[in-house]
Amino acid sequence: MRRQVIPTRIVRAAITATGHYLPPDVYPNEYFERRLETTDAWIRSRTGIAERRFSSVGGTSDLIVPAARRCLDVRGISPAAIDCIIVATMTPDRLCPSTAAVVQRKLGAVNAWGFDLAGACSGFVYGLIVAAKLVESGAVRRLLLCGADRMSSVVDPDDRATAVLFGDGAGAVLVEPVEDESVGVLDHVCHMNGEGESSLHIPAGGSVEPASADSVATRRHYVVQDGPAVFKAAVVGMAEVTEEILKRNDVSVADLAWLVPHQANRRIIEAVAKRLGLALGRVIINLDRYGNTVGATIPIALSEWNEQGRFTHGDRVVLSAFGAGFTAGSVYLRWAIA
Ligand code: UT7
Repeated sequence: MRRQVIPTRIVRAAITATGHYLPPDVYPNEYFERRLETTDAWIRSRTGIAERRFSSVGGTSDLIVPAARRCLDVRGISPAAIDCIIVATMTPDRLCPSTAAVVQRKLGAVNAWGFDLAGACSGFVYGLIVAAKLVESGAVRRLLLCGADRMSSVVDPDDRATAVLFGDGAGAVLVEPVEDESVGVLDHVCHMNGEGESSLHIPAGGSVEPASADSVATRRHYVVQDGPAVFKAAVVGMAEVTEEILKRNDVSVADLAWLVPHQANRRIIEAVAKRLGLALGRVIINLDRYGNTVGATIPIALSEWNEQGRFTHGDRVVLSAFGAGFTAGSVYLRWAIA
């Protein structure tokens, strides 16, 4: 018989474990210097990226499974203990079924239901809000939230404007109820502006323009981005959701232990930090090593910092993201892992 979770009272949801996985093959900027009309100096100065990882085999689920295993191992629980799996991704293994179902099978999470969530670069933040609400309501007790993308499957390797920006990777967190109500996921702010559709999208391969020989020949199955338009919108959008969440929770910049921004471009992150008056020493930045892994940037950053012991129980942390849609979102949490 399936477990029945009967809520007795509203509880606080928190991240109780983390894990991440990057494929082993490293592609430094020099790799693109050899293939495209670009330079290491341009990529570093315009984006802050020095290298990224691309996977050579499998799909997004194959990036998620090792990240999820690491997460469950550190918590000391088996896959069968998971009630629900959410996968935030824009590169699902297939359009159907969900990657969550594939992950469920590969992990052996036999008691879990779940679904994919399409929020592009804001996907993990949106997913964490949904996860926290499911756990707070008592509907789910142990939720595995994965943010993962195999961007090498949708980026045109011959387009210098996008090829150098992205990478493959996965992060996973466990979201569970906690007794101490002073820690955990405390608040969120989300915005969306569908006017941004044409600034960052994949023209073909969906229902509006199904994949065809022509869509492939014209390379319309690859990511298309108006870089400067997205750049400007990202600086404003990320700063807004970050300022708003700090203000309404009465958290001063001095009280903030860490800002965890989506990792698309170092200049975007620096502009947001400057606008907030926040020293870069309290902003997590790792895009120099991984590029933009879309749904995976924030959970990879959380997992790396957690494994390095750089979070302290009770730390005030803001996650902040901006991406295709346009979508934007922030989450305010206090770190719950001791
Ligand atoms: O994660 C989802 C959200 N995405 C983002 O947040 C990305 C936001 N946008 C960006 O990060 C930046 O706009 C880019 C990094 C994509 C581009 O930087 P930029 O400073 O906005 O450059 P640009 O697109 O205005 O291009 C400047 C020049 C152009 O040449 P011309 O027209 O001035 O002759 C481009 O053709 O740089 C050229 N260029 C390159 N040159 C060398 C574009 N890509 C490259 C390249 N190598 N890889």
